[in-house]
Amino acid sequence: MSTAEPVIVARDVYKVFVARGERRRRRAFLALHNVNLAIPRGRFVSFVGPSGCGKSTLLNMIAGLVRPTEGEIRYKHAPVTAVNTDVGYITQDDNLLPWRTLRENVELALEFRGVALVARRELSARYIQMVGLDGFEHHYPHELSGGMRKRAALIRTLIYDPDVILMDEPFGPLDAQTRVILQDELLKLWEGSGKTVVFVTHDLVEATALSDEIVLFSRAPGTIKQVYDVPLGRPRDVFRILAHPNFPAFFDRLWRDLKEEIMDVELGVS
Ligand SMILES: Nc1ncnc2c1ncn2[C@@H]1O[C@H](COP(=O)(O)OP(=O)(O)OP(=O)(O)O)[C@@H](O)[C@H]1O
Ligand SMILES: [Mg+2]
Repeated sequence: MSTAEPVIVARDVYKVFVARGERRRRRAFLALHNVNLAIPRGRFVSFVGPSGCGKSTLLNMIAGLVRPTEGEIRYKHAPVTAVNTDVGYITQDDNLLPWRTLRENVELALEFRGVALVARRELSARYIQMVGLDGFEHHYPHELSGGMRKRAALIRTLIYDPDVILMDEPFGPLDAQTRVILQDELLKLWEGSGKTVVFVTHDLVEATALSDEIVLFSRAPGTIKQVYDVPLGRPRDVFRILAHPNFPAFFDRLWRDLKEEIMDVELGVS
């Protein structure tokens, strides 16, 4: 485990959602329980766990969009009690604005921050070029491929230089080749930046390839089952991660622990 100072802390966090059930009766639903976690500054940390175990809910809490029912989320030593505009958040859906071009989408946060047009153009051109999207500046989101939209969502967040970035399955719906290329691009942008990344994925190879630490959640109602230090050095070659000598044993252990959670759900074992 890292000894760096924690930038995000979850302390005894519980989340109960109240939703409408049959005949519109209100039904309390426990989504997360007893979550305790410290994410050190500058680390790349992934959340993995069965669908519905509360990964996105925890990201939403860090971003201040959802409040814990009990317990506390602390961000840079202060409790999160309102929308946390300090973090960059790439949500499960890429959320590009369909009426704005690629360049206008990428510049959105800079516009909100009052950055002058010339500086905005210069910066967006640099980021667009960095991820190979030059030539597509004036395309609208529906004129871009899935991989291009994910790249746009990534640089739209990186451009305002948040030092903590939350990413919820950012490469989820992409084909295998595009995914690995984007993983490589992400690591190149991240390495040496000092930024803290919290990354949600269902792909254990992706989590292993990218992360310093992996947080495994139990099946719903979610809690943290285990935190692993990934035993692979840096820099990483994501294209050859399966060939790393430490990969097979680590992956087997991770998969075995996750499988217990998934199989119990499928078999109805509690
Ligand atoms: N706003 C909400 N109101 C009611 N229930 C909610 C709300 N948000 C999430 N939930 C419930 O909380 C549980 C956890 O949801 P969450 O989206 O955090 O899971 P997840 O781990 O991100 O799943 P996935 O891997 O499928 O994205 C789910 O059962 C979901 O239905
Ligand atoms: Mg989710």
